[in-house]
Amino acid sequence: MRNPLPPVPGKLLELEVSDDLRRGTPLATLIAAPSEEDGDAGLAEIGGVRPTGKAGDVQTVPTGGVRWLAGVGDGEPRQYRKAGAALVRAVTSALEDDVKAGQKAFRAFAVELPEDAGAEHIEELAFGLLLGGYRFTVTADEPKPSLRTVRLITHHTDALERVRELAAAAAFARDLANTPSNIKTPAWLADTAARVSGGIPNLTVTARDEKWLAEQGFGGVLAVGGGRAGPPRLIELEYRPRGATTHLLLVGKGITFDTGGLSIKPADGMHLMRTDMAGGAAIIAAVRAIAALRLPVKVTGLVPAAENHVSGSSYRPGDIVRHYGGKTTEVGNTDAEGRMVLADALVYGIKKHKPDAVIDAATLTGAMKVSLGVRTGGVFATDDALAERVTKAGERVGEAWWRMPLLEDLAESVQGSLGDVRQAPGGPGGIVAALFLREFVGDVPWAHLDIAGPARADKTYADVVPGATGFAARTLVELVASYA
Ligand code: BES
Ligand code: ZN
Ligand code: ZN
Repeated sequence: MRNPLPPVPGKLLELEVSDDLRRGTPLATLIAAPSEEDGDAGLAEIGGVRPTGKAGDVQTVPTGGVRWLAGVGDGEPRQYRKAGAALVRAVTSALEDDVKAGQKAFRAFAVELPEDAGAEHIEELAFGLLLGGYRFTVTADEPKPSLRTVRLITHHTDALERVRELAAAAAFARDLANTPSNIKTPAWLADTAARVSGGIPNLTVTARDEKWLAEQGFGGVLAVGGGRAGPPRLIELEYRPRGATTHLLLVGKGITFDTGGLSIKPADGMHLMRTDMAGGAAIIAAVRAIAALRLPVKVTGLVPAAENHVSGSSYRPGDIVRHYGGKTTEVGNTDAEGRMVLADALVYGIKKHKPDAVIDAATLTGAMKVSLGVRTGGVFATDDALAERVTKAGERVGEAWWRMPLLEDLAESVQGSLGDVRQAPGGPGGIVAALFLREFVGDVPWAHLDIAGPARADKTYADVVPGATGFAARTLVELVASYA
């Protein structure tokens, strides 16, 4: 039997830059929408096809040198991302059709860029090309023929290494989150993080097991992982470039499956909870990329990984759990498990590493999907400058963030009566979850990224395809780069 799973990380398309076209390679060209000078007739025909120039439109030319026309609309950089993604999808399906028709499959294609396309346009186009054709399938079929190389015909050659690493981080985070939970136990996640980080200078990965967690008093992780089949882990990634002074701590929710526990979720959407470690995936992928890019910033990534399952050993509503460091939480709902594992990891990471700032990423609350929809992440922060840095970093890599308030009038609701803090007090879900976490961070500047909405997509848009999106990985790399 063939390996039932695709390799993680999967292979990314090779990106080459060249200023001449090799013969025999199918060619695509980018075309802006008609302007007023073009008049009513619009753009001139190419090979008998009149281009629309609309961003996201890809037209096939039956004859002649150019095979595809991809619109870039008004020519703004973000339209290039859309064009790149639409183009790579069209080219892939043409390749599959060629193979079905018994023709020799081409494995490379070239894209001719307009003269006025600058570095920013090229970066956006590269994101679209590298990620737009992403897919993750587990099948007994022979692997489909796939593209290997895309060649950009342009004079700009700089900045591509950064884009390549950013795109690889997003794709890797997608792979991790898409991997089904019958494979993806906490131990699998830890092993995979260690495996992909091997050989990268100054990066080490340590996985702690349930015995160590018990000795150290990680009560939140152990409570959530208590009903499990696969025991919990704490994954610690340490990137220590020589000479760096700033130290950032990144913490990611690593729930490899969220049934809700005894406060069980309805059957309808439960299968989607295999991506409930998307925050942890973003952090594993980001730290790997930060190290691969050799950014001069110390970074520690922490991923508390556990399965939230139903069994006789599950934690219960009404339990009081003692976290790492001693603080206790009154459990109200076992489905609010993300904050339980993050609380331990935040206290541990801050105490051990004394970071200059802490950022956590988590698919924490369904409420965030109601607040911001599924294409924007929520940023809660105790520090205005840090919140601004996250939002700006996201803008530079095409991920949208919106600042959310840590409302003081709700702070009281997370105070406990039997224990120190109350886990699930009701009220606006995203905000009270953030206020709960704030109880565990002390004075260090902290930002909490709730990505429950954008971590998954059920539609194709820009460089996103249905399934895990890898959201936050690129923002985190770019955020760390802003400290370099
Ligand atoms: N993993 C969920 C949040 C979630 C929901 C992520 C939908 C992605 C899509 C989280 O663990 C959860 O269940 N949160 C509860 C908290 C509540 C019980 C206080 C929620 O949001 O309903
Ligand atoms: Zn969850
Ligand atoms: Zn939950």
